[in-house]
Amino acid sequence: METIVLKRHDSIKRVKTVGEVRKQIKKWKREGFTIGLVPTMGFLHEGHESLIKRAAEENDKVVVSVFVNPTQFGENEDLGSYPRDIKRDEVLCKKAGANLIFNPEPSEMYYKDASTVVNVNGLTEGLCGARRPVHFGGVCLVVSKLFNIVTPDRAYFGEKDAQQLAVIKKMVKDLNFDIEIVGCPIVREFDGLAKSSRNTYLSFEERKAASILNESLILAKKALNLGERNVGRIKDMINEKLSSEILTRIDYIEIVDSLSLEPVQSISSSILVAIAVYIGRTRLIDNFTFKV
Ligand code: PAF
Repeated sequence: METIVLKRHDSIKRVKTVGEVRKQIKKWKREGFTIGLVPTMGFLHEGHESLIKRAAEENDKVVVSVFVNPTQFGENEDLGSYPRDIKRDEVLCKKAGANLIFNPEPSEMYYKDASTVVNVNGLTEGLCGARRPVHFGGVCLVVSKLFNIVTPDRAYFGEKDAQQLAVIKKMVKDLNFDIEIVGCPIVREFDGLAKSSRNTYLSFEERKAASILNESLILAKKALNLGERNVGRIKDMINEKLSSEILTRIDYIEIVDSLSLEPVQSISSSILVAIAVYIGRTRLIDNFTFKV
């Protein structure tokens, strides 16, 4: 007979100020609890839910930050229209086992006279960084602030944003944050589309078309498993598949070393195959890693 052990979760609290978070964290630390942090921009889905559940398994207390971070959006990006629904997020957080939601206003996170920047060079120059020049600076700034506010033992990030995960790991190493960074697998829809808050921008037709991203990656993975080692041929294969769908506009198809994120000429170690594709006006990303 299978025994299911249910972990008892405290009722969830939602706070808006750094002071309130610090007060709660100090109390938990005095009581000897370990703390997991799941940074998010809200409008949570099953991908976030998997991060929160993992954090709840590995820590005594889980903090979820819900903050649409203005500094990581470029001028013509979707800061204004980014979906928000804190009530719905609260229900998901509670169900998944979180204990505290930190949901600050931009003015709580960024003082008018703040002048510090956090940039990780190198890793942020290719892939999404090449198209979104301010993005990773904004991510590193807000994540390092969240690390200093919450002081977690572990922090959880999705592998869908593979470049973000690599950049944050490097930042943590370079700045000596005493925090374990845990990468969690991509969660997908029934047809393989990677879960993303931005999927809600897609019209019915676009949503149907969007499964082409994962289909193109499956083709590439099959070829690699069958021994294909020519970078150009794999990229062509992905390109051809993506181009067969009329609603797609390819932003990039890249094959890079999974640690340095430098483009590879031949496939001989651990690689990241990463794509960014517009479906209509919505830019979606997906990837997989492959080890020889
Ligand atoms: O991945 C995200 O949702 C954001 O980039 C993060 C890490 C929460 C920082 O704003």
